[in-house]
Amino acid sequence: MSTLWNVLPYVVIVLFLSGTAWRYRYDKFGWTTRSSQLYESRLLNIASPMFHYGILFVLAGHLVGLFIPDSWTSDLGVSEHTYHLLSLYTGTAAGALTVAGIALLIYRRRTTGAVFRATTANDKAMYLVLLGAIVLGMWAKLTHSTGDGYDYRETIAPWTRGVFTLQPDGAQMAGVPVTYQIHVLAGLALIALVPFTRLVHMLSAPVRYLFRPYIVYRSRDPKQLAARAARRGWEGAE
Ligand code: HEM
Repeated sequence: MSTLWNVLPYVVIVLFLSGTAWRYRYDKFGWTTRSSQLYESRLLNIASPMFHYGILFVLAGHLVGLFIPDSWTSDLGVSEHTYHLLSLYTGTAAGALTVAGIALLIYRRRTTGAVFRATTANDKAMYLVLLGAIVLGMWAKLTHSTGDGYDYRETIAPWTRGVFTLQPDGAQMAGVPVTYQIHVLAGLALIALVPFTRLVHMLSAPVRYLFRPYIVYRSRDPKQLAARAARRGWEGAE
């Protein structure tokens, strides 16, 4: 069993990196979200930000939970119980926002004819794994929420860090509750799928958009507005 946890993350990393290189090489023009905004925008304008803000908070929470050792937070005077409560409230709120967003996105996709017709088998498989990873994460968390909760910072977190320092210790995962193990497997499956689905758009998120200057719109000079309309190219000269 621990061999699985030693090998699987590297299979996923190889699939992710080689898949990304392959997609860039052979499908540069298909590197897109395949947005369906043109077909329907009312629901999308609510559901899409809900989902994206939710998932960004969830992923930020994963970075803190998995990559900041518990010795650091206890050095800062944060007790295990306080950490658990913080993680429980913020993580659950972020997870709930994500689930609500994705539920609305799936509802829209199913009920808007044009959007449904534009949904491929690849999209459906991706949605299944995405929803599965999210629901299983919430499930694991909420079924271990009493007291100090399940202390994944003693097991899953050091295992995750070991993967990146090339010293994976699969034995750390052996005693982890099954619900958490299944969640991690679903999470790994999703990561492997990124380059082969529309999720690939996350690798080219328009981060610079956040820092670009505003587009400045100016009304025309009032004197000019009162003047005769500008002559069109095809109108003959007077
Ligand atoms: C393979 C890498 C992953 C690992 C090791 C991992 C680990 C964890 C752990 C330990 C928790 C429980 C936190 C707690 O009990 O307080 C959790 C919760 C959760 N995970 Fe993951 N996860 C992974 C990937 C993912 C992915 C890819 C997604 C979403 C697409 C995801 C979505 C969630 C959600 C929604 C929760 C519950 C809410 C929250 O704590 O934020 N996870 N995950």
